[in-house]
Amino acid sequence: MWKKWFSKSGEVTKIPEVDLIDPTRIPQHVAVIMDGNGRWAQKQGLIRTFGHRAGVERLRDIVKAASRLGVKALTAYAFSTENWKRPDEEVNFLMSLFSEYLDTEIEELHQNQVKIRFIGKIDELALNLQHKIENAQARTSENTGLILNLAVNYGGRAEITRAVKIIAEKVQTGELKIEDISDNTIQNNLFTGELPDPDLLIRPSGDLRISNFLLWQSAYSELWFTDINWPDFKPEHLVQAIIDFQKRDRRFGGIKK
Ligand code: FPP
Repeated sequence: MWKKWFSKSGEVTKIPEVDLIDPTRIPQHVAVIMDGNGRWAQKQGLIRTFGHRAGVERLRDIVKAASRLGVKALTAYAFSTENWKRPDEEVNFLMSLFSEYLDTEIEELHQNQVKIRFIGKIDELALNLQHKIENAQARTSENTGLILNLAVNYGGRAEITRAVKIIAEKVQTGELKIEDISDNTIQNNLFTGELPDPDLLIRPSGDLRISNFLLWQSAYSELWFTDINWPDFKPEHLVQAIIDFQKRDRRFGGIKK
């Protein structure tokens, strides 16, 4: 099914703007905050969980589109360390949705060479979900296609705090000297490890904030916001975000040559 994407007879013909993309400058790492599920559902008189279910469908589409466009890594924010504050009913629904996703999607992801990773405090999740996550990661670990990072029980501050603790322990045991601590030491102890920083960070739903997502890694990410809620976010919006990204002048604090 995926093979049809962007082939002459496939979906690409429905996204004419794809021709405006420079294939040599595709963002290597795209991050997305899958926001607006609740508002999308409520606008239609549905309960919020319908929005989350629709959100899974969009994730499926965007994983395929990103993969076919040549994006190397996609990181999607699915559940933050702050989302536990939501009513138990919604939290439980989301946890079962992650579990269901792993049951139903892993085979197709694997067939399409997607390497799935979870970032966040996975050890705080229910044991059966942890096992499914471990199995999915192990199953797809050798895959060479898109790296799909799902951020679950993830928080940027918690991630940095965790990295600081790991580093402090190494200093305490004498494994590491204070003067040898660099940006790289911190970077390497984040959940994203050696993955390059996101080039492009997308937030749908109209809210203009980062919400504790990839705080360290997004230092020089290009931000792209849209009023569209995540359940309405289509591959053409990803294409538009990439076109806009390619128009940006990225200087990383330097000056233009
Ligand atoms: C934010 O929208 C969305 C979430 C907290 C959950 C995101 C989860 C999914 C899209 C499910 C798919 C994920 C996987 C990994 C299967 P919101 O609920 O805060 O919406 P609102 O801001 O309109 O209330």
